[in-house]
Amino acid sequence: MPIIASNFKTNHTRKSTAIFVNEVNDYLKEKNILSEVYVFPTATSLDIFDTVSNFIIGTQNAYATASGSFTGEIGTVQLDEFEIKTILIGHSERRHILGETQNVIAQKYEFYKNLGYKIIYCIGEPLEIKQKGIKSTLEYIYEQFIGIDINYENLILAYEPVWAIGTGVSATNNDIENVHNAIKEKINKPLLYGGSVKSENVREISQIPNVDGVLIGTASWKVEEFIKIIENTK
Ligand code: G3P
Repeated sequence: MPIIASNFKTNHTRKSTAIFVNEVNDYLKEKNILSEVYVFPTATSLDIFDTVSNFIIGTQNAYATASGSFTGEIGTVQLDEFEIKTILIGHSERRHILGETQNVIAQKYEFYKNLGYKIIYCIGEPLEIKQKGIKSTLEYIYEQFIGIDINYENLILAYEPVWAIGTGVSATNNDIENVHNAIKEKINKPLLYGGSVKSENVREISQIPNVDGVLIGTASWKVEEFIKIIENTK
């Protein structure tokens, strides 16, 4: 069953999230969808999903704590209120814009793993590494597994090349296949592709061997486009 995950990033208000939720939920109720659908809204809208059961809600981030003095962060006390048990860890924007080191990411991973959370763990190389070739790309990606228990049962991986995120330029099918094959050989876990996925390319991408689904930003923020993506994913 393919996995389709929408990452809202810092987009949508509570009002527009509620509209999105209702419309996508109605659609999923009517159709017999074989995909597993995840949505990662902003933390301010997590409660909107309280009664929704047709897709899985996750948090884009949380600190490795239950509660405490960590200004600007949320922990499991807040997540528990909304029965959130799914988290994105290692996203490229947290690594490269928010400055999370591999050490911080590994600590977060360990904390949420010990609580049994489903973890979507993101990996991916920046452009200058990609330009050096597949060997450097894989070396870079493998370093993103330092401190990460790859045998964790609730682990889903997401390969998101940094240069393809939000650029409108997805990796080629060949690039995706090569990297996915190599990762799968080492780590036999569901592996998503992310980076400029949209309704026009999702069918092709989701049919590449060793692609178990997609993680989508930009194209998933509009209901009609997200629904098209769900329809076109095979
Ligand atoms: O987490 C999803 C992501 O980073 C891809 O974003 O906008 O390229 O679909 P986008």
